[in-house]
Amino acid sequence: MLRTLSLIATIGIAALSSIAVAQEASIVVNADQGKVKISRHIYGHFSEHLGHCIYGGMYVGENSPIPNTNGVRNDVIDALKNIKIPNLRWPGGCFADEYHWMDGIGPKENRSRMVNTHWGGVVEDNSFGTNEFLNMCEELGCEPYICGNVGSGSVEEMSKWVEYMTFDGESPMANLRKQNGREKPWKVSFLAVGNESWGCGGNMTPDFYAQNYRRYQTFCRNYGDNHLLKVAGGANVDDYNWTETIMKNVPLNQMWGLSLHYYTHPGGWDNKGSATQFTDEKYVETLKRAHHMDELVTRHDAIMTKYDPKKRVALVVDEWGSWYDVEPGTNPGFLFQQNTMRDAMIAAITLNIFHAHADRVRMANIAQIVNVLQAVILTDGEKMILTPTYHIFDMYKVHQDATALPISVNTPDYTKGKFTIPQVSATASKDANGVVHVSLTNVSLEKSIKVSVDIRGMKTKTASEAQLLTAKNIADHNTFDEPHTIELAQFSDYKLKDNVLTVTLPAKSVVTIAVK
Ligand code: AHR
Repeated sequence: MLRTLSLIATIGIAALSSIAVAQEASIVVNADQGKVKISRHIYGHFSEHLGHCIYGGMYVGENSPIPNTNGVRNDVIDALKNIKIPNLRWPGGCFADEYHWMDGIGPKENRSRMVNTHWGGVVEDNSFGTNEFLNMCEELGCEPYICGNVGSGSVEEMSKWVEYMTFDGESPMANLRKQNGREKPWKVSFLAVGNESWGCGGNMTPDFYAQNYRRYQTFCRNYGDNHLLKVAGGANVDDYNWTETIMKNVPLNQMWGLSLHYYTHPGGWDNKGSATQFTDEKYVETLKRAHHMDELVTRHDAIMTKYDPKKRVALVVDEWGSWYDVEPGTNPGFLFQQNTMRDAMIAAITLNIFHAHADRVRMANIAQIVNVLQAVILTDGEKMILTPTYHIFDMYKVHQDATALPISVNTPDYTKGKFTIPQVSATASKDANGVVHVSLTNVSLEKSIKVSVDIRGMKTKTASEAQLLTAKNIADHNTFDEPHTIELAQFSDYKLKDNVLTVTLPAKSVVTIAVK
């Protein structure tokens, strides 16, 4: 069957003959009708005190033989700067609601040691704390996204944390910061009030959380010109009642955003399977679950729109990505998984969905940045590799802060066993220089597909800078011994004529092309 996907909705066109168009897809991009900016913050990341995300992955300490800047690995810094990381969420996740920030400041030898009860029961020595995180964000050129402790913390603790980080003047917390070697405050834009308060963050009801949110956020002040963008803890997957209750009970001017968490578990929570060994049917099932993000965002948005028709409150998908069984032989509490071309597909499909909902989804954070879940970077001692997901973030960085263009996609379906998904998905945006970037994904394991992209509302002259990500096998991945199995390549199988860009998309590929 051929289906049409538009910017807002997916409409099956049963009437069209599947035979006539089976190996072709056609796309219309309206280059003069974009209204909404794709916030660069959709390309955010998440770093938790979990496994080797922080320790070993990002932070190795000043005395490490691994080249570092103030303890943060230089290879990781360079890689993240290259993809223009816009924001970084920290310190959790579930860890955030058992984290007491004062344990992580001051001379390292005096910092408290604690048990990381959520993640492997390991000792957390707090050598990476607030100063280290905020300095790292400055080094990366990204905005910090702090997640405060509601579950086991207090209003006073969160309020003082904000004062410590952002107050420029004479006050107990600002003085403490100065004593710890940082004279000027940092800029902190994003502040989450708790994490997963329906679960690991305190098992609260939505009513109880809404009241708590109102109280906690009151005491998180804007000091000087630092303006906090406060994010209320949102729903787990399709808990629409949570979204409804928060929107009903929290005044719009008290929250900048409301979060949503959704992970792609191929066979459900109890049957996630291996990151690298999966059947073709499991592959399509996984991508179908990635497509489910569209329904979730659409339905949460509809509820939010009832209370907030002007879309002032952002939907912040601050945890998303694939979640498989841990790699054999690794600590089950460390959530270390490999990352294949299948994950690159998940990333491209999900980012396309966020672009399509850019009027509501204004921030998102893939989980997690290094060595945990759908990581963009994996490390092993001094070695570091970039995953296929990293390369999608690299390829897609041209869309950051560009204007989302209305797009409709006629595509054949792709089926394996019980699961069917659209064969082609796509997104397009126009940047500040008027350059249109079109990104196309072909999920077929076997067949290339000819795609014609009719670009309307613009006189096109050239198509160039085409980049391709593909793999021989869908389970291919980069390893510490073979780090370049999957990486971006130049692509030339396209032509532009009379405003129509014709592309032959290889099987299992993602392509981005610039049109001027
Ligand atoms: O990302 C791993 C965990 O998943 C986070 O700590 C938690 O918020 C979520 O359940």
